[in-house]
Amino acid sequence: MPTLRTTVDGLNLPNPFVIGSGPPGTNLNVIVKAFQEGWGAVIAKTVSLDASKVVNVTPRYAKLHSEDKKEIIGWENIELISDRPFKIWEEEFKKCKDQFPDRVLIASIMEEYRKDAWIEIVERCQACGVDGFELNFSCPHGLPERKMGSAMGENPDLLAEVVGWVMSAAKKPVWAKMTPNVTHIEDPSRAALKAGATGISAINTIRSVMGVNLDTLRPEPSVEGYTTPGGYSSRAVKPIALRMVMEIAQVIRREFPTKSLSGIGGIESGNDAAEFILLGADTVQACTAVMKFGYEHIKPMCDQLLAFMDKHKFETLAEFKGKSLDYFTTHADLVKRQAERKAAQKAASPKVVKSDGEWHGDEFVKQSDALSK
Ligand SMILES: Cc1cc2nc3c(=O)[nH]c(=O)nc-3n(C[C@H](O)[C@H](O)[C@H](O)COP(=O)(O)O)c2cc1C
Repeated sequence: MPTLRTTVDGLNLPNPFVIGSGPPGTNLNVIVKAFQEGWGAVIAKTVSLDASKVVNVTPRYAKLHSEDKKEIIGWENIELISDRPFKIWEEEFKKCKDQFPDRVLIASIMEEYRKDAWIEIVERCQACGVDGFELNFSCPHGLPERKMGSAMGENPDLLAEVVGWVMSAAKKPVWAKMTPNVTHIEDPSRAALKAGATGISAINTIRSVMGVNLDTLRPEPSVEGYTTPGGYSSRAVKPIALRMVMEIAQVIRREFPTKSLSGIGGIESGNDAAEFILLGADTVQACTAVMKFGYEHIKPMCDQLLAFMDKHKFETLAEFKGKSLDYFTTHADLVKRQAERKAAQKAASPKVVKSDGEWHGDEFVKQSDALSK
């Protein structure tokens, strides 16, 4: 019988499915629900010491639907970190750990660029019994105006300095959460790991504009007729998240083999989780999926991941973690491999793929399709 149980950075999880920081971990009531339904761990909504500076607006979400309107493919939010007072969070963290001493509760924290503030927030959360930290270096909206969130995450030097401050106070594992809104996500990831972070979480949301309402001509989500770019999540971001997780996993494998990786971005099913683990993730986080399907969705996710493991005769997650990383190479190497295979077969490609100089309009869709498999 395969098992989903796993130990990551000394934390014992019943399964690798973690509630990603956001609305599904926004107060004690919903965190309790997540544990009751069987989530492997919960990362609470990001907290800061002074919530009075955090002012949210409504509406703050906008969705991209499939043509038939039945599915949500993409989700934009302009939501800030938690606007609930830190004192209340301290009480709720304590109550949560009293009620669930054996379950993993991770505090997501974010502060201004001040050493004393970061150390204070780490020490106060630690005193409440949280099991670990996620450093939000990645919120793409609102807070960069205060040099917080992705404003820090985009700057490897700044990020390394802040990780150093946190590590000087943290007695628990620390995951640095990366923004995808950079050209090379390896650079800030490497900086965080060099500065001592225990692991990396990736990705946060992708900076986006959901669309423009063609009746009102106003961009969405529209707040008093105006908007601001937000963060994109849900199924649509999964291919981008997989690419970035793969890139970070390669850095971890080569340079920091003891560090952990938590994959995030569009994860909705056990098969999605399997893909992230195959590309090097130790755990997987879901945020928007919980907003779409509810906390009970953990059951089909676990069942599907177990079915995948059963099919391939994997007993543990460790047996397939990173297994697909070896199959990434350069384009030049693909060309070489294909030429070698063709030469060996002494035959043309089995597909009738004409060279693009021979394409013509009538068969264009067919020719394009033939190149996709
Ligand atoms: C409405 C909303 C609020 C979010 N708030 C936070 C937050 O407070 N802190 C944080 O680190 N990430 C936050 N995120 C980002 C998610 O944790 C996650 O990184 C991202 O949405 C991609 O994963 P998903 O496709 O599973 O949602 C938020 C996402 C959404 C949709």
